[in-house]
Amino acid sequence: MSSVSLIDLRSDLLSQPTEAALEAMYAAARRPVAFGLREDPAQRELERRSATLLGKEDALLFPTCSMANEAALLLLGHPGEVLLTQEFAHVITSEAGGPAALAGLLPKAVAGGPVPEIEDWLALFEGGDELKPTTGVLVLENTHNRSGGTPLPSDYTRKIITHARKAGIRCHLDGARLFNAAVALESEPADLAQDFDTVAISLNKGLGAPIGAVLAGSGEVIKEALRVRQRLGGGIRPSGVVAAPAVALLDSWSDVAEDHRRASLLADALAALPGFNVNRPPSNIVLLTANADRSFRPVDACKLLQTQGVLALPFGARAIRFVTYRGLTDDQIHAAADAIREALREPTRGAAA
Ligand SMILES: Cc1ncc(COP(=O)(O)O)c(C=O)c1O
Repeated sequence: MSSVSLIDLRSDLLSQPTEAALEAMYAAARRPVAFGLREDPAQRELERRSATLLGKEDALLFPTCSMANEAALLLLGHPGEVLLTQEFAHVITSEAGGPAALAGLLPKAVAGGPVPEIEDWLALFEGGDELKPTTGVLVLENTHNRSGGTPLPSDYTRKIITHARKAGIRCHLDGARLFNAAVALESEPADLAQDFDTVAISLNKGLGAPIGAVLAGSGEVIKEALRVRQRLGGGIRPSGVVAAPAVALLDSWSDVAEDHRRASLLADALAALPGFNVNRPPSNIVLLTANADRSFRPVDACKLLQTQGVLALPFGARAIRFVTYRGLTDDQIHAAADAIREALREPTRGAAA
């Protein structure tokens, strides 16, 4: 099958910008370059409007959400402290050891899936004797990617943060998919970000901008974030081509509802696939997990899917991840579901060698 007809469901970073966003990018490329780190008018507008959307005093453009997360850890933590987060959070699994290497933090995950019991968090907030490191930073990921895009409601995060604050812990929200969480919970991004010191969002996922992320927080924190971003090499210039398409898309964040609908469409179409369990996707991530009695290697299964025209991501020991995003059509989802069913219907297909 030629690569032209591949249906790529590996990530929502494949999201397509709208025509208006591309025109804004083009127009920004034709404007004179602003020299300062926060001088470009599109960047300033993006930062002002992002701060408002997230209910914070100020916001700063970053090249990636990983860098925005790492900057937050540098701003909120101190070397030797514990960074507490959910199991399989991106800051632990996919930021190349940044919390330890950059901020000197000791990462620790709370057991219990994406939404552990409140008591399980509280037990870890309690300080021990002087032999123990103290917990300095809490990171919550909303939605939680590895569990299949699970949203965390604000009454849950609020309870945890209230206790964390009493223990002197600073709180960061990894909101790479915060817009998905807001749509899934019929909430507002600012409501979900309200209690956190800092919040990072991706511009290049559900929103559909070609590149970028934003870190928001108090005026004081963001002032210091500018220096930290520079230290990490993230002072993008010219920044107009990055910021302008995001500005054009920012008001349409709730369009990710369409991605959620398409994820449900895909999950429904895969529900009866023998030998597998499919999640009921709360947002835009579908996880197809092989039953325990089935011999299965996600890497091999993804190679097989590719021969049938579908790109997916191996996810852990027994699952494959499919992500929906702006630019996919219902026809592509149906075609992908047919191809996946066809490829994996025989128990020996995708099996471990
Ligand atoms: C939950 C979460 N946080 C952060 C990131 C990092 O985003 P970026 O690729 O912009 O560094 C991702 C990327 O997929 C993610 O899923």
